[in-house]
Amino acid sequence: MADTTGAATPDTVAVHGDDGVRRRDFINIAAVSAAGFGGVAVLYPLISQMAPSADVLAESSTEVDVSAIEPGQAIKAVFRKQPLFVRRLTEKEIAEANAVSVSSLRDPQTLAERTKEGHQDLLVTMGVCTHLGCVPLGAAEGENKGEFGGYFCPCHGSHYDTAARIRKGPAPTNLEVPEYEFTSDTVIRVG
Ligand code: FES
Repeated sequence: MADTTGAATPDTVAVHGDDGVRRRDFINIAAVSAAGFGGVAVLYPLISQMAPSADVLAESSTEVDVSAIEPGQAIKAVFRKQPLFVRRLTEKEIAEANAVSVSSLRDPQTLAERTKEGHQDLLVTMGVCTHLGCVPLGAAEGENKGEFGGYFCPCHGSHYDTAARIRKGPAPTNLEVPEYEFTSDTVIRVG
């Protein structure tokens, strides 16, 4: 801004004086640095919001006590906000699963591959139909278990056998077996 008195102001010195260019550079650099710092200050909360919260971490695994599940019974639990079926197979259901020719299956897997060694009677699967995600029937007492005695999805008629393998209907794959391990003889940790 010009001074009507004709005296040079600090700004006009900055623009026109020998030191002016350096001063202006300093102002620009200071402005860029402030913007950079502001950018970091804004980014940090965004990044920290993207990190999983304590509740999400807590939900990333689920412990299930399987001791009370009798042969022929199943329970429904929740794993990562989705239904989880834990089923204790009877001797007959195990025999039926093992009698199937695996190569004839749409998604070929043996019962042994879908269970843990020494615990072939405990079938742990997601309760989510692999067609379009409905919750199949068959885990609760008295529900329709479908033509193969496992689970039945009424949405479009998918039938799963006693190893929860797809046998009939549109579902492309077996019910998913999630990652899990036995933490004792009676407790499993899923996830
Ligand atoms: S969602 Fe299960 S058969 Fe379609």
